[in-house]
Amino acid sequence: MSVEKKLFGMMPTCENVYIYTLKNSNGMEVEISTYGAAVVSALVPDKTGEFQDVILGYDDLEGYLKGDKYFGAIIGRFANRIQYGKFTLNGVEYNLAQNNGQNHLHGGIKGFDKAVWDSKIRKDIDNSVELCYFSPDGEEGYPGNLYVKVTYVLTEDNALEIHYKANTDKDTIINLTNHAYFNLSGHSSGDILKQKLMINADKFTVNDKNSIPTGEIREVEGTPMDFRTLTPIGQNINSDYEQIVFGNGYDHNWVLNTNNSAQLKAAQAVDENTGIVMDVYTTTPGIQFYSANFLAGSDIGKNNTVYNSRDAFCLETQYFPNSINCSKFESPILRAGEEYNHKTIYKFSTIV
Ligand code: GAL
Repeated sequence: MSVEKKLFGMMPTCENVYIYTLKNSNGMEVEISTYGAAVVSALVPDKTGEFQDVILGYDDLEGYLKGDKYFGAIIGRFANRIQYGKFTLNGVEYNLAQNNGQNHLHGGIKGFDKAVWDSKIRKDIDNSVELCYFSPDGEEGYPGNLYVKVTYVLTEDNALEIHYKANTDKDTIINLTNHAYFNLSGHSSGDILKQKLMINADKFTVNDKNSIPTGEIREVEGTPMDFRTLTPIGQNINSDYEQIVFGNGYDHNWVLNTNNSAQLKAAQAVDENTGIVMDVYTTTPGIQFYSANFLAGSDIGKNNTVYNSRDAFCLETQYFPNSINCSKFESPILRAGEEYNHKTIYKFSTIV
């Protein structure tokens, strides 16, 4: 087990950006950058004992500064979309940036993915790094000073745990996630259409054509959104089901059956080629399964790899998109003095 810290690069403001390498006794390794608190790589053993990097990303900081796909980053203050960038809290209307058509996406123009986080190695948790970010009152239009702490832990059973904590001095909204793009055959192996996915959800939130939930919660049964058993991602991805057409593939929030408990499995992805299995556990009520429909060949990643549409999948654990404007959805409000406390685990193993 070890944690190493190295310089990753320098911001245009001359601020240093560091990269931490967490390594466990099985040889699994995860790299975390202090820019965006992003997961840069995860070397995971496959069924033959070779290591595969299952995370899409860039070789250097410059790549991350130019990139606009949120590779591996922590998203905040609010993951996914808020309709028209507007919400009302305690009778006050707040207006956020409309950085996705008329809507607000992933925290705005300069979300947490574009911040340099403070970092330290935690002595009390083996193989961990803690990243902190202070988001001042009014940043990107959100109310309240917000203190955010994200801790990554690489465990001895090949799990990457992400602990999210935050508190505020004024009521606000918060929805933190990680935007890792996974490819269980390796980041440079092409599309993920044959990889299989299970999502432990009987229902999903229906979107309008701008990917804003309409408020309808629909049963997955009898639709291409049914991932209750392991199903190849590509099986229905080109279906003419309206939700798939709206999303250009999968880009939706599933209503987890797990009751906000990280004891129950929220999702599982399996790649028969490498034999790598990834299990997801989380305390959040929803998960965004995004089939990387917007990767466009213009995204050049590690080792000059061209990333095309559907070369990865994201499983972003979250409160439901636009939940602040939909009273049927679990509330993403964080009250002054309360603690936001969530956990997501991506656990790797191989097919037995
Ligand atoms: C996803 C979102 C997509 C797209 C992507 C980033 O979380 O659901 O619609 O915005 O992030 O390119």
